[in-house]
Amino acid sequence: MSGIILPGADGSLFQRDRAWHPPADTPGYKSTTFRAPRHSLLALGPDAIGQRMVVYGQVLDENARPVPNTLVEYWQANAGGRYRHKKEGYLAALDPNFGGFGRSLTDENGFYHFRTVKPGAYPWPNGGNDWRPAHIHFSVFGHAFAQRLITQMYFEGDPMIWQCPIVGTISDKAAIDQLTARLDRHNTTPMDALCYRFDIVLRGRRSTMFENKPEGN
Ligand SMILES: [Fe+2]
Repeated sequence: MSGIILPGADGSLFQRDRAWHPPADTPGYKSTTFRAPRHSLLALGPDAIGQRMVVYGQVLDENARPVPNTLVEYWQANAGGRYRHKKEGYLAALDPNFGGFGRSLTDENGFYHFRTVKPGAYPWPNGGNDWRPAHIHFSVFGHAFAQRLITQMYFEGDPMIWQCPIVGTISDKAAIDQLTARLDRHNTTPMDALCYRFDIVLRGRRSTMFENKPEGN
């Protein structure tokens, strides 16, 4: 999964100057030893296993105006339905080339995009045999604290959507439809990646459903 992280004016990334900032592990300040990374950074290869795809969309405010330069974060399970998380209990295999999270800034017209692989469905301990439909989690910061949105994106045509107890907490079918990304055949990258479009509305009557807040935001 790759996103665009805080580019400079010339498009380059601002890297932290580690010679100028204090080191992460400073034994004289004991707590740093507990929270500093103990392992070297994980190098992820370029080719995760799974259905290659680009996800893109436009972030809009309640008046349908684009929200430029806002941070969009996303995280997901790998193609087998497994998260890279120490509390993950699903037996599907980890993919050494897939981290499962990324972040992008929207452009001047409010558009974000990222490249990833389609996540798999996964079981969860709810009713004994409940499965989450394939989904990607989103967090959007917006330009004001009240615009913060946390939600989940589903995939057009997935029959698992309609048997998910979490999706089932939303009573309005149109609201569920708004959480469903559309396959965008026109923007598919030939011989490379499918394309899905997921627009996000922050606040207002047409707001994208806020996770765990069925009334919206
Ligand atoms: Fe999830």
